[in-house]
Amino acid sequence: MDQSINIRGKRIFITGGAGFIGSTLAGRLLDENDVTIYDDFRRDSLSTRPFADHPRLKIVKGNVLDAEHVVTSIGDANIVIHCAAIAGIDTVILRPTETLRVNILGTANVLEAARGLPNLERLVTFSTSEVFGQAAFRADEADTAHIGAVGEARWTYAVGKLADEHFAQAYHQEFDMPTVIVRPFNVYGPGQVGEGAMRTFVIRALAGDEIQIHGDGNQIRAWCYVDDMIEGIMLALTEPAAVGEAFNIGNARAVITIYGLAQTVVRVLGSSSKIRFIPKDYADVELRVPSVRKAKELIGFDAKVDLEEGILRTAEYYKG
Ligand SMILES: NC(=O)c1ccc[n+]([C@@H]2O[C@H](COP(=O)([O-])OP(=O)(O)OC[C@H]3O[C@@H](n4cnc5c(N)ncnc54)[C@H](O)[C@@H]3O)[C@@H](O)[C@H]2O)c1
Repeated sequence: MDQSINIRGKRIFITGGAGFIGSTLAGRLLDENDVTIYDDFRRDSLSTRPFADHPRLKIVKGNVLDAEHVVTSIGDANIVIHCAAIAGIDTVILRPTETLRVNILGTANVLEAARGLPNLERLVTFSTSEVFGQAAFRADEADTAHIGAVGEARWTYAVGKLADEHFAQAYHQEFDMPTVIVRPFNVYGPGQVGEGAMRTFVIRALAGDEIQIHGDGNQIRAWCYVDDMIEGIMLALTEPAAVGEAFNIGNARAVITIYGLAQTVVRVLGSSSKIRFIPKDYADVELRVPSVRKAKELIGFDAKVDLEEGILRTAEYYKG
């Protein structure tokens, strides 16, 4: 039987490692491994972290669209974690062309660079819950992915990530590459730097500022605290059964409407913020709740941090 991988003494290459999830993961891996972060630093959660100058951390500023630079920077990594992407719906809607280029061509570059590695043990790539479309309840990995209407800029993100999933599976099938796909469902927590409802609500609630909700606030999400996400990635890296698979990673118990989330943040943080509804002028996901049965059965994943606990921990970070 295959042994699980022990993540010690590895050479780990993390694209997008300056971002929210990538830098949190780097912090988890650094004490026992050599970690290279490859990022163009359009977002930066790294510089505020206590491990930003860790002796086992190497930082390379670069763009995943630069195929040659990715090849020279990947070194002799034996673990590759591909987080780099244009993410966040506001950014995607403003820059759909760049979203498609970075998220499809950038991923192709990283996979191709990894194909040249003689000792690659695992490559984890990031998809998204958005591939399940506008209404996904207990979305299962085997469900058909949705690609949305052409011309709606938001769906360039889901389409790009869907192409990434096909790329990763193709490299696995054709070249026996040990790939794993993770599909995060609404991750939040300390270190989040991009747009995101939880981050915005917590920061505004702490300041007592008005919280704005786009639309009527009855969109439903499942909220996954970042530590649970990191556990999911660690299992994707270590468990033999993960290879060649895609996993939903989320917290199917922390389900709430956006209005409910705003109210909960205000209550839990004892805030005086008012909640205001403003018109919504973009395509949205109305319902998004994962099934995490496959991740539980195959790799033992189980989210542990409840919503209110996660909100309190997140607020501690933003209080500074
Ligand atoms: N946070 C979530 O809830 C969530 C949900 C679904 C999927 N994801 C996916 O998980 C991954 C990590 O998400 P995150 O929340 O940490 O996002 P993030 O935006 O904080 O991190 C992405 C990082 O990629 C970097 N980057 C962007 N374009 C690049 C390029 N061309 N070359 C090199 N670096 C580039 C950014 O500077 C950033 O540091 C992404 O692939 C994202 O699509 C996240």
